Amino acid sequence: MINLIEEVENKIQSILNELNIQVDNVKVVECNRAELGQYQYNGVMALAKKYGYTSQELAQLVCDKLKQDELIKDANVAGVGFVNITFNNSALINQLNRHKEEVDKICTPKGHKIFIDYGGPNVAKTLHVGHLRSADIGEGLKRLARKLGYEVISDVHFGDWGRQMGMVIAGIEERMPDLPFFDENYKGEYPTISPVSSEDLEKIYPLANIKAKEDEEFLNKCRKITYELQNGREGYYKLWKLFVAESMRPVMKTYDFLNVSFDLYEGESTCNELIAPMVKDLIDRKVAYESQGAVVIDVAKDDDKVEVPPFLVLKSDGAAMYSTTDMATILSRQRRFEPNEYWYVADNRQSLHFLQLFRAVKKAQYVKDDTQLIHFAFGTMNGKDGKPFKTRDGGVMSALTLIDNVKTEIRNKMSNGGENDEEICDIISSATLKFADLSNNRETDFIFDIDKFCALEGKTGPYILYTTVRANSIIKKSQLTNVDKFELLDIDNKAYIDVILNAIKAPMVLQKAFEQKALNIICDYLFVLSNSFNNFYSQTKILTESDKKKRDSYLKLCYIVSKINEELLDILAIKVPDRM
Ligand code: ARG
Repeated sequence: MINLIEEVENKIQSILNELNIQVDNVKVVECNRAELGQYQYNGVMALAKKYGYTSQELAQLVCDKLKQDELIKDANVAGVGFVNITFNNSALINQLNRHKEEVDKICTPKGHKIFIDYGGPNVAKTLHVGHLRSADIGEGLKRLARKLGYEVISDVHFGDWGRQMGMVIAGIEERMPDLPFFDENYKGEYPTISPVSSEDLEKIYPLANIKAKEDEEFLNKCRKITYELQNGREGYYKLWKLFVAESMRPVMKTYDFLNVSFDLYEGESTCNELIAPMVKDLIDRKVAYESQGAVVIDVAKDDDKVEVPPFLVLKSDGAAMYSTTDMATILSRQRRFEPNEYWYVADNRQSLHFLQLFRAVKKAQYVKDDTQLIHFAFGTMNGKDGKPFKTRDGGVMSALTLIDNVKTEIRNKMSNGGENDEEICDIISSATLKFADLSNNRETDFIFDIDKFCALEGKTGPYILYTTVRANSIIKKSQLTNVDKFELLDIDNKAYIDVILNAIKAPMVLQKAFEQKALNIICDYLFVLSNSFNNFYSQTKILTESDKKKRDSYLKLCYIVSKINEELLDILAIKVPDRM
């Protein structure tokens, strides 16, 4: 079954063919000037001259024919030969009645597997705003792909294995040298509760990091510990297990708040067993070679515009690092899942790392030739001064501080009416933060303007939620239970028809957002649909409409808008509260 737009595209094509004009890819797009029409066809200009017409003549011929069609209310020529089209209300309503089929049509199982790696929090380090972005964008892309019928497996990929682990262990030893974890000859039972809290860890790591910069002996000790941990020294390993779990507790809470979850909660450490054989294999097959004690893979290409340094498989101290675990992790994922695509959602400062990694695994043939590896890079969330986000006292903005700021702002706003339900405020705060994050073009930096993003008006999370809650509450107030079964009538009410016109675009929006991997397309659309709905709401008596059939069609439209909003918000992992 084809949709309304495809139908009119086919019609234009036959009109042109009847004029002996050969064309096979007629594209009709949204009209960028609503006062002229709903959709437009811009292809006439490219064809006219070749077939002996002026653009306007040919456009007029197309319009004359289109006007005779039952789908079309009006077609007119604008400018040098744009064909503007306005559909009959009944055609729009029929199309909206087919919404579910339309969505089902694009959401068929694709038999295509995607592995997505996002979140990427680090043990003993506070989540920063970049981690929020990765979590929000990754979760949205995952849900969008799933919705469209792709099989998606997600992994949080905890940063739990690099040099910072040695630093944390050395830092804990400095504070509590008598713990049995440090005694190599210890034979008893190890404690089963972490000797440090997550707050302690966030202090221990930066201190150890500073010390390692100033004190070479300490740095060497950290290196040695990292190496021994990675090679199975029991006390270190037991301690590591405890503080990793401890460190993840606040992270999981933040993920809960953001409505983000994963299929796999693995980490850099998960692939540890694969590292030694991998290094051996790479050297044996001459993919990698030793250079100044390190093991590297050349990944530069002749036509590189910037220098691409060799990929580091192992450092000279033999310890596994970020690049090592990323490579071994692909091996492990490949063996278990064999995805068609790998997606990594990490900020754009890691672009070089991923470029090297992807070339290295292709060179090593650890993935198939046609396996796609994509880094979805994103820009920085900046403060109002346009510089990377800082707290008031100049420190790095942690995710929790940002969340707290938004919560406070939302609570103040919502407390106007007196009642202030904690859970509802949390849902709205989460929506505020996520919508702000996702409504920007992923790749560009953007300014987090808290006043703007928390506002109840404008392209904001609260506004979209408010609209959805409003639509739901009208239905509730009607006390009618089977609103979804009501019929949309052709009513002479422009605001009503405008909502219908916007609502039919939802399936196309889903498809376009996926093609471009751009969640901001969904946000933009939610804003447009919500605006038209609020306009309709403010201009129309809905519940007090005395003509029952009219009232029922208005209610049905409320129902449709609420369902579309809920469906799209769910892709963005934004929950809708019962009331606001
Ligand atoms: N832990 C990293 C960071 O904080 C992000 C991890 C991204 N994923 C990956 N497989 N490298 O920057």
